[in-house]
Amino acid sequence: MSVWAVIVAAGRGERLGLDRPKAFANLNDRPLLAESLERLEWSDWVDSIAVAAPPDWEEPVILLAEELGCGKVRSVVPGGETRAASVRAGLAEVSEDAAVTLVHDAARPVLPEDVIERLMTKLNEGWDGVVPGLPVADTVKRLEGDQVVETLDRGGLVGAQTPQAFVSSTLRDAVAAGEDATDCAALVEARGGRITVVAGDRRLMKVTEPADLETVRHWLTPSA
Ligand code: CTP
Ligand code: MG
Repeated sequence: MSVWAVIVAAGRGERLGLDRPKAFANLNDRPLLAESLERLEWSDWVDSIAVAAPPDWEEPVILLAEELGCGKVRSVVPGGETRAASVRAGLAEVSEDAAVTLVHDAARPVLPEDVIERLMTKLNEGWDGVVPGLPVADTVKRLEGDQVVETLDRGGLVGAQTPQAFVSSTLRDAVAAGEDATDCAALVEARGGRITVVAGDRRLMKVTEPADLETVRHWLTPSA
C-alpha cells in the first residue's frame, strides 16, 4: 500500500511581495520549500513525492531535491493558475497504485511528523479524507454587504490546515470534476465524501504575509 504526497508550491506569493515565488522565499538561508520537502522525505508514512512547482522553476526544484537528498521525489511538474489546478497537475503524477495521497501546501513549512501520524491513523478507520484542524479563536460573523447577518457558533468551527490525507481514488474523482476550491477536502465534500478532522498544529501556520515568515523563522531557529 503506497502513500504519495503532493506538495503544491506553484503560487506566486503576491502577498509576500518578494522578487521570487513564495516557495523560494529565504527561510534561514534555505528556500521555504526545503522545509516541507525534507519533512515529507523523512516521514515514515510517505513513500513518494510529487511537486507542483512554480512555472519555469521546475529545474531549481529538482536541484533542491537533489541537494537535500530527497530520493522520494519522483516528479516535478509546473503548477497551474489556481491551487486546484496545481493539485490536478501534481495528482496526475501520482502512481495508479497509490492507496493514499497527502496534499500539502509548501506555504506551511513546519510540518510535524505526529500530524501525519494522526491523519493516517484516522484515515485507516475508514474515512474518505482527514484534515488537520484548529479551533477558531475569534468569534466568526457572516456579512451581507456591511451588515452582520449571522454570528456562527464557534464551537462547531475549525480552521483547516494541510497536509490533508485522502483515499487516492476518491481524491482523483473529486479533483477531476475541475472545480476550484481553497482546499481539497471541499472538493471531496462537494461530491458527498466523508471527511473528518484531527488535531492540527499551530506551527502549521500558512506563510502569507512577510511577518509570517519571521514567525516561522523563529520556530525553526534552535534556541541557543
Ligand atoms: N498554490 C499553487 N498554485 C497556485 C496557487 C497556490 O500551488 N496557482 C499553492 C501555493 O504555492 C501554496 C498553497 O497553494 O503552497 C496555498 O496558497 P497561498 O498561500 O495563497 O500561496 P500563493 O498563492 O503563492 O500566495 P498569494 O495568494 O499571496 O499570491
Ligand atoms: Mg494564493
